[in-house]
Amino acid sequence: MKFSHLESINLSHKTILITGANAGLGFEAAKYFASQQAHVIGAVRSIKRGHAAQALILETYPQANVTFLECDLSSKESIEQFALKVISQFPLIDILLNNAGIMAIPYATTKEGFEMQFGVNHLGHFYLTALLFQHLNENARIVNVSSQAHLQGNMDLDDPFFHKKPYQAFKAYAQSKLANLLFTHELNARLHNDSRNIVAVSAHPGVAMTSLFDKVEVNSIIKLLKPVFGLLASSAFQGTKPLIMACLDPHIIKDNYYGPGSKFKPDDVVLSKMSPLAKDKNLAKELWRLSNNLTQQSFLE
Ligand SMILES: NC(=O)c1ccc[n+]([C@@H]2O[C@H](COP(=O)([O-])OP(=O)(O)OC[C@H]3O[C@@H](n4cnc5c(N)ncnc54)[C@H](OP(=O)(O)O)[C@@H]3O)[C@@H](O)[C@H]2O)c1
Repeated sequence: MKFSHLESINLSHKTILITGANAGLGFEAAKYFASQQAHVIGAVRSIKRGHAAQALILETYPQANVTFLECDLSSKESIEQFALKVISQFPLIDILLNNAGIMAIPYATTKEGFEMQFGVNHLGHFYLTALLFQHLNENARIVNVSSQAHLQGNMDLDDPFFHKKPYQAFKAYAQSKLANLLFTHELNARLHNDSRNIVAVSAHPGVAMTSLFDKVEVNSIIKLLKPVFGLLASSAFQGTKPLIMACLDPHIIKDNYYGPGSKFKPDDVVLSKMSPLAKDKNLAKELWRLSNNLTQQSFLE
């Protein structure tokens, strides 16, 4: 799949919602879609940082149609308020890019008391998707941003928040990124009765130099490997290409997992391999049940 082929796709009637749109991959995606005349809704934890990002986009593309609204994925109330604003102010959503994330941070909890990485990276996006689900257009796409870190992930449904075992920052990240893939599969499975032809897929950027690496716990393996990552990493825009491909691929197939091609072929996007756990149907069902319980939803039950 060639990234450059996407440039001919007309996005002028598309509404694209991106979480974490003020920085890193989310910002690059927002800028790209704005340059292609889409209407971009950026969901941001800090509205101040959101407005700064909006100003940067408008500086380069003065005609861009971009709106940034506050949405803290670590707070149920903030997600609810954001969803209400989106539903009341905007037409149907064509693409929901669940991108925001945090990696291997020191132990912290969300407003509801959930371990922060599972809470933001998975549960926050699960809840947002549930609240916006009826507001998705025909042929809409839901794109969940995972990571090859999921290959190290284990989904501990009995203790997802590290209450019974010692907290390990990278393990918590890997679990949350595995959850992104399981969420994608189970969502597709539950969409088969929906007449809108909505498709869920996942994507990952490989390693891209963004601020994701700045908040990593001091003792984390990622902190130690940061200099190596620095050498291997691509730019934020390069890392965003698989995410954009997942949003726009004209030959999309549900459950596709888009990733970068070789470093020497920057125009290529390929389908990446998932761990056997990521394809475990029972695990995906159980995670769905747990996510509905924790967010007090009955999303697609
Ligand atoms: N960069 C990589 O090499 C890499 C590799 C694999 C996967 N990924 C995935 O790519 C996605 C984007 O990461 P990135 O590299 O672009 O990182 P980034 O530059 O740190 O951007 C992360 C974005 O998520 C937002 N965010 C964090 N916590 C949030 C919350 N509670 N509510 C709402 N938004 C929140 C951040 O907002 P603030 O600016 O306010 O903090 C920021 O906009 C993540 O899901 C990550 O797991 C990245």
